[in-house]
Amino acid sequence: MTYAIWAMYATAKKFYLEGRYGDALNFRKIQSAGFHLWFSTINEFFNRFESTTAVATLVPQCEGVVLELGPGMGNQIVRFDKSKVTRIIGVENNAHFKSEIEEQAEKSGLGDAYEVVIAGAEESDVLERHGIRAGSMDTVLSIQVLCSVSDEKAMAKEIYRVLKPGGRFIFWEHHISDDWVTRLYQNLTNPIWSGLIGGCCRNKDMYAALAEAGEWENLDSIEGDADPEKPWVTLPRMWGVLIKAEE
Ligand SMILES: C[S@@+](CC[C@H](N)C(=O)[O-])C[C@H]1O[C@@H](n2cnc3c(N)ncnc32)[C@H](O)[C@@H]1O
Repeated sequence: MTYAIWAMYATAKKFYLEGRYGDALNFRKIQSAGFHLWFSTINEFFNRFESTTAVATLVPQCEGVVLELGPGMGNQIVRFDKSKVTRIIGVENNAHFKSEIEEQAEKSGLGDAYEVVIAGAEESDVLERHGIRAGSMDTVLSIQVLCSVSDEKAMAKEIYRVLKPGGRFIFWEHHISDDWVTRLYQNLTNPIWSGLIGGCCRNKDMYAALAEAGEWENLDSIEGDADPEKPWVTLPRMWGVLIKAEE
């Protein structure tokens, strides 16, 4: 949180010193540029941490035509198995990340296969123009993105809609705690957390969103690290490879 406060302050100050007085008072602009500054500052640590988690084995399972939600710094691009993916569309709503995503795609030898679309993942009309239509995707990948989407239930339904029957939703997300004290803490602190961390919410019921999205072949395969011995964890993770049921 300290880094996030610093990033917001540094961003507002930069706008002010550049004479961008309107931007220095515009919360949305400070939030998106500040989030980019925060993420790029902690990215090395964060990426190293992710390598020790299920993320390292989930991403290589992407295949065919892939919709990557919120690629951010492009950390997952190097984890794709190039022999399995044919085309990847990365939909990122924060334009500040565009050059990093493109750079990662080039470095990973996926420059020709990877297309960056700067848009909200919920903007289905924009996505349609890039070939993301009902039943068109082999894989949708979401690594810590649903937490920042304003309506995760609608987003989960959209993910389900664009997947082919038999297509796979691969995800690693954090969610609301099962422990009522931690849940209360998540709910009370969420407005500040969310404001500082680019709209990320710690209190989303991801399991309900996925369960209600449509019929999956293997909903009970979802895994997680919530530990009753450590109920105070505020970012418990859940992950899996959900298969959209054949019609
Ligand atoms: C915590 S970061 C994760 C980045 C990346 N998936 C990774 O694993 O390193 C969340 C990313 O999702 C993006 N994001 C948030 N809401 C979004 C939305 N509605 N549509 C598209 N991208 C979104 C953010 O800008 C940010 O880059």
